[in-house]
Amino acid sequence: MTSKEIKIAYREYGNMDQLEPLDRELAQAAADALSGSYAPYSQFNVGAAVRLDDGEIVKGANQENAAYPSGLCAERTALFYASASRPDKAIVSIAIAAGQNGILCPAPATPCGACRQVMAQYQLKGGRPMSVILVGGERIWVFDKVDDLLPLIFDSI
Ligand code: THU
Repeated sequence: MTSKEIKIAYREYGNMDQLEPLDRELAQAAADALSGSYAPYSQFNVGAAVRLDDGEIVKGANQENAAYPSGLCAERTALFYASASRPDKAIVSIAIAAGQNGILCPAPATPCGACRQVMAQYQLKGGRPMSVILVGGERIWVFDKVDDLLPLIFDSI
């Protein structure tokens, strides 16, 4: 038997002004994307912004439906739209922000498992690390790659 350990790494910032300029721009875009949230059932607004390898930013927000499973998280709305509309561009970064009543949640919102798996797929498709920026009103977490949010990613097929 061999004991193994997986470590993840991320950086915490106090506010957007402390981020690198490109990360700051993407974090702000995710916060702006909250306005596109349609969440009549949970009242929980999530915005996501992805950066493509040519610098373009694509935004998405959570969309809910009376048939609950038919809705979609902000991250997947943005990622699917980015891949569908710019299929030849790698997605190099994603920022996610959550809020209620127009106010950012103080702590970063961490993506659900399904969104992590989809991020992993587009990181694989792009062939380069996708950084993940989780934006809270009082704390921001930056991960250099999706692996740090989803160790032992399923990519075996
Ligand atoms: N939601 C997201 O948009 N992203 C996540 O990673 C987790 C949850 C949305 C789905 C639903 O509209 C609302 O937040 C409450 O779960």
